[in-house]
Order: sequence, then C-alpha cells, then structure tokens
Amino acid sequence: MKKILDLITEETVKAFAAAGYDAKYARVTLSNRPDLCEYQCNGAMAAAKEYHKAPIMIADAVAKELGGSKLFEDVQAVKPGFINIKVSAGFLSAYLNDMHKDERLGFEKAEHPRTIIIDYGGPNVAKPLHVGHLRSAIIGESVKRISRFAGHKVIGDVHLGDWGLQMGLIITELKERKPKLAYFDEGYTGEYPKEAPFTIAELEEIYPTASARSKEDTAYKEAAMQATYELQHGRKGYQALLGHILNVSVTDLKRNYVNLNVEFDLWKGESDVQPYIPDMVKEMEEKGYAHMSEGALVVDVSEETDSKEIPPCMLLKSDGASLYTTTDLATIVERMKLYHPDEIIYVVDKRQELHFIQVFRCARKCGLVDENTKLRFLGFGTMNGKDGKPFKTREGGIMRLEYLIRSINERMLEKIQESRPMDGAQAEEIAELVGLAALKYGDLSNQASKDYVFDADRFTSSEGNTGPYILYTIVRIKSILKKYEETGKKLPPDAEIGPYRSESEKALMLELVKFNAVMENAFEEAAPHKVCAYIYDLANAFNKFYHETKILGAEDEGLQDSRIQLLLLTRKALETCIDMLGFEAPERM
Ligand code: ARG
Repeated sequence: MKKILDLITEETVKAFAAAGYDAKYARVTLSNRPDLCEYQCNGAMAAAKEYHKAPIMIADAVAKELGGSKLFEDVQAVKPGFINIKVSAGFLSAYLNDMHKDERLGFEKAEHPRTIIIDYGGPNVAKPLHVGHLRSAIIGESVKRISRFAGHKVIGDVHLGDWGLQMGLIITELKERKPKLAYFDEGYTGEYPKEAPFTIAELEEIYPTASARSKEDTAYKEAAMQATYELQHGRKGYQALLGHILNVSVTDLKRNYVNLNVEFDLWKGESDVQPYIPDMVKEMEEKGYAHMSEGALVVDVSEETDSKEIPPCMLLKSDGASLYTTTDLATIVERMKLYHPDEIIYVVDKRQELHFIQVFRCARKCGLVDENTKLRFLGFGTMNGKDGKPFKTREGGIMRLEYLIRSINERMLEKIQESRPMDGAQAEEIAELVGLAALKYGDLSNQASKDYVFDADRFTSSEGNTGPYILYTIVRIKSILKKYEETGKKLPPDAEIGPYRSESEKALMLELVKFNAVMENAFEEAAPHKVCAYIYDLANAFNKFYHETKILGAEDEGLQDSRIQLLLLTRKALETCIDMLGFEAPERM
C-alpha cells in the first residue's frame, strides 16, 4: 500500500501542475500545527522565488485546485504561503480498511530483497554474559526482525568470541588443576572423552581465576600465551578442549538468549574462520596491499580527508599471531563466500568504532567485498547506572545478565502482586513477559548510539514511556474484545471502520495510518527507537480515545462494529510492533 503522505502528495503534485507551477514544490509533510490541520505543504514559499510572485498567490491557486479532491475535507492557503490540509473522514477510514484487510498492515515487502547479515550478540565463550552484551542482543534482534519484516533475507550471526587469550588462560588453569588429563599429554594418540572435564559453573569460575592470576604472575601469563599459540597452531589436545569449552558455553548461552527472546541463525565464531587467514594474508601481500612495518604486517587505511589519524590495520603481529582485526577480515571473506551478502551490519559497542573503520577500509581496499556490499557499523552507547557510570553490581563488579534480568522480574512481580491478587505461578509468568518488555523497551526506546541510564523503577512503571505501559494498552484492548465476545455478538464479515465521530477517534486513526511509513523509516535507519516512539504515540492516542468514547456502549450497532474493527486494527498494529522489538503481551496483567 502506498503511504498516506504519498497519496496526498500525488494530489498536490497534480494541483501544482494544474495551477501552472513545478511539481517539485508539492511535497507534503505532517502538520506542525495539528490544531489547524493534519498535513501541510510549504512549497509555495520556495516556488515564490522562482516565479517572482507572492507565496500566498501560489498557495491560493494550489489550494483552489485541491479543493475538489475527495481526499480532503478542507484546504486553506494561509499567510505567508502555507497550504493547510485536512483529510476527509471517508478517505481516512478507507485507508484504514485497506490496512486492516492486509496481513502486513499496508507495509509492502521490498521489491528487491537483499541479503543482510547481522553480526550481533558477540558473547565471549567461557565468560559469563554481562550487561555489555545485553544491548547488542536486544538491538540486533530488533534490527533483524524489522529487516525481515521489510522483506529481506536476513541472517543473524552470534559471532562468538572464542579465539583469544581467554582460551589459553582456561587451558593453563585446567592444567594446573588436573594435570593428568589426556588433553595435556602430547604423546596421547587415543580418542578424547566425549564428556567435558568441567561443568558450566566450574568454567565460569575458572576463567576469572585464571585471568586474575595472569595479572600477577608473569610465568603463568606466559604459559597461557604459549597455550593460546599452541591451540591456534593445531595442538590436538587443546583443540579437543576448545571443543568442550565451546559446547558447554554455547549450551549455556543458548539458554540465556532464549530467555531474552533472542534467536540466532548462525552460531559461528572467531575460531571458525581461522582457516581463511593464511590465504587471505598471502593475497594481500602478493597484491601489494600489505607491508611490513616495525616487524608487523599491516595495511595502510588512512585517507587524505581524515580529520584524525586512522592507524594502519594490523594483520599479523611480529610473532605471526593474528589479531581481532584479522579475524574480522577473515569473517568477511567467509561471509562473502558462503552467503554473498548485500550488507553486513555490526551491532557492537561504539567504543569499537575505530576497529571497524579499519576493518571496513581494509576490506574495501583489498577487494574482500563487492563494490556494492554495504558494511555498516551500528555502534551503541553504554548502559549506565543511576550514578551515570557504567552499570555495576552493588559491590562494584560487572553485573551478570542473569542477575539483571532476575532483578527486573522480581520488581515486576512485586508490582503485579501489589496491584491485585493473583495466583502465584500465573503472576510469575506474567512478570517474566512484562519484565522482558520493561528491559527491552527501556533500552530500545533510546537512540542506540546514545548512552542511557538503567532505571528499574522507571522501566517497570506502567505509566509513561515504558514497555509495561504499552503492554497495559494491549491488554486493555484484549479485555474489551473479550467482553465483546462474551456478549455473544458476532462481527458481521463486512463490518468496516466508519468515519470518525470525535477528535480523539480521528487522532487515533491519524496515528494508525502512519504505520507503513514508520516501518520503512525504522528499517532504513536500522532504528528500533522509531518503532518505540510510534507505539508510544499510538498507545496514548488509543487511551485517550478509550477514555472519551463508548465502545461496547456505542449508540448503535453499526457504530459499535466500526469501533470493534478499529480496536482490532490498533491491537494488530501494536502487536506487530512489539514483535519487531522482540517481546510480547500477556492475556492479562
Ligand atoms: N566479542 C566481542 C566483544 O565482546 C564482540 C564481537 C563483535 N563482532 C565482531 N564481528 N567483532 O567485544
């Protein structure tokens, strides 16, 4: 379906032409004086310069042409040269009925679907998930869903961090604790056990212990670096251990992501792309892109127009070890080979921006990507505590994601039980759904690149711009619809949304018709916060309408049918949007 603004613009284009003016001036926008009109065109002001006429004369002539259109109830030329447009009730309800009949609420699928890989989550194996990974998961999941809804082929890849020193640290610590294990015996030629020699709880304890020790004990740190090196150069026992670490970790990670309603198509990691590195590096050398500098192999990526210096992209250190950059480049090679993406979006902490500038430039320079493959860095800001500093536990440590989620859910449960008595298990189930909405909406309603303050009290409030407020609105609609059903009435199959009868009904309709434009924009800008802003406005408009209007008590049956349809459409719009954000509404709250 065409966007409503486009339909209106089609009319103004005709009107400008009919009045003898260039149609390029016919652009229509939402009104910034909603008290006067819903839409406006300011083109007469610009046209005045070209035609050497007073803007109001042009506006008058165009308004006269527009006067005959069925789309509008009233068109006014206003000094100095605004054209104020009020849409007709018939046009508005016809548009809504078309939306209502369409599964996709009038948002058309992309005509030319593109393949988009979204690199998000990015947890590090064997380290517990912490809030730093939360934003990537929440934002990436939403961007994925929005892009998919827009009709593209979208592949979400978790891109595990499974290739760094942390692996060597774990191996070293394990060797200290259980030196007899076959994995450490270089002469061992048998099969390694299927069962991992540790549980997830042990693994999570091993890493921080080893990491702390390596900071004090140089010999230990060197052993860990050596183990990392040997692992990366094919030592069998260590690779078998890596397999165990991955298995145990990934099982645990999957459980965590399921709780967050986050789902990946690919569970690939840094270790998977290591085989691509030698050939990639060789080619970069042969083609003359890479050169030695201070013992390391680098590719220059600075550009003349840079306002600050962009250091060379390092491929291999002097000891031949590869780096984070090398892995990301090799990942691009693999992705191009296996999936031929038109675009790769990286949802990563914005503090890694320089790294991605280097990687993207290097990939382009060395021809790792097609000319028209877009590489996009979606850097997000930090989640801060109320003190404005990065979120920490009360003891000052890094907050684990599980605790954070639990604390939100507990807060939610308290609030639910305060508001009315409810069966315990049911209350818990609801608290989980609403808690997730509180957490995700609290994050997504901010522009991703900005820092934000994590405020459990505000996020779980049922008033204001929050997830629970949106869910309350949906639950309210559901309960009205349930009551309607209980009256035993059936909506006639041809029941339509009729012309509005009040200002608040019209305001609700005007919000609803924005749906496809909002989705298109949210997709193009990879901006879930635009979806949040939309549903907040929509929920406000609905609640105002609800408070001012008789729905089940409507004067006549036709009017009731129309309003029930309007409710169904509002629910559908809200539910579609929250699905794009990655959460859902309970039946009751
Ligand atoms: N594992 C990394 C970290 O925790 C994030 C990975 C981001 N993705 C990427 N392709 N580099 O910082």
